[in-house]
Amino acid sequence: MKTKLLSDTPEEIGLAAALIRDGRLAAFPTETVYGLGADARREDAVRAIFAAKGRPADNPLIVHISDMEMLPAIASEVPETALRLAKAFWPGPLTMVLPKRDCIPAVTSGGLDTVGIRMPAHPAALQLIAKSGCPIAAPSANRSGSPSPTTAAHVMEDMDGRIDAVIDGGLCEGGVESTVICFDDADTIHILRPGLISEEDLAPYASRVYVDDAVFRQIAADAKVASPGMKYKHYAPKARMIPVDAPDFDCFAAYVRDHAEQNTFCLLFDSDPEIEGIPSMRYGDSGREQAHFLFLRFRELDAAGAGKVYVRMPKKSGADLSVHNRLMRAAGFEVITL
Ligand code: TXA
Ligand code: MG
Repeated sequence: MKTKLLSDTPEEIGLAAALIRDGRLAAFPTETVYGLGADARREDAVRAIFAAKGRPADNPLIVHISDMEMLPAIASEVPETALRLAKAFWPGPLTMVLPKRDCIPAVTSGGLDTVGIRMPAHPAALQLIAKSGCPIAAPSANRSGSPSPTTAAHVMEDMDGRIDAVIDGGLCEGGVESTVICFDDADTIHILRPGLISEEDLAPYASRVYVDDAVFRQIAADAKVASPGMKYKHYAPKARMIPVDAPDFDCFAAYVRDHAEQNTFCLLFDSDPEIEGIPSMRYGDSGREQAHFLFLRFRELDAAGAGKVYVRMPKKSGADLSVHNRLMRAAGFEVITL
């Protein structure tokens, strides 16, 4: 199959929308990462997503909508808290897991009776959904296991020849995937995957907000988890990522000098000095900058032929937890603590 690279003009988004209506696959930009879209209601189309990604069948897809009227058509119950969150954060990087209606087949929901739903804040994504007239199931548009793509070129790297089209909307602003939440009860928000909308951001909307344990440690492949995606090794470049929790830069640099081999790289904060003799890349100082650059740097480190990569530890608080979690998962939760 030849993969068409489309621009984000209304005409070319219209071409992608026609493909989706036909049960084909089109990747598109969102404010977080690129998604690989198909009509969420069509089993054949959704199966093709799993095949193109090499994704385990029990890992459910997020369904994307472009207006609030689409919500009751796919969720059978929408609690008051969910409506208030939608009002506050949609369009935006928040996915809510809700009981699903029958029009969403089991292939889409990974066999669960719930469905993750979000309204993305990217004009090309919103136009694509609206023009296709379909709720669009879309996981991140990478091959399963590799970092989520934040440019159309990265989508092509993983998916050229495997999908019908990619809409090029430039570099994604957010850089890490959406915050995924479910409701344990009417007044408890359970964060299944951290994103740029943080625990603190959600706190005003429920009496309790908490982060799932799987965000902080490795979960056994056969364990029962609230969000199947959390048990798979993820987001990993080919290079071996080694987060180093050091009290300061000098400790970090001394450790790296002692342990550097051929092809060892560092992933540093912008404000860090160079470490002589060791090639480095930088991923920002704030959590938002680090989120924006993390997956981009993963791919650049691979392109540069990095073997081991010592990484300055991101913070664990607020939106920074999303970066911390992606890095820990890329590293299989192994950290050097100095
Ligand atoms: O920002 C994003 O969320 C991007 C863009 C394209 O929207 N999408 C994305 O999709 O990251 P994906 O498939 O790579 O990750 C979806 C995550 C997985 O960890 C999955 O297990 C979880 O959401 N998820 C989806 N539906 C769920 C459900 N019904 N119950 C629990 N977890 C669910
Ligand atoms: Mg993904």
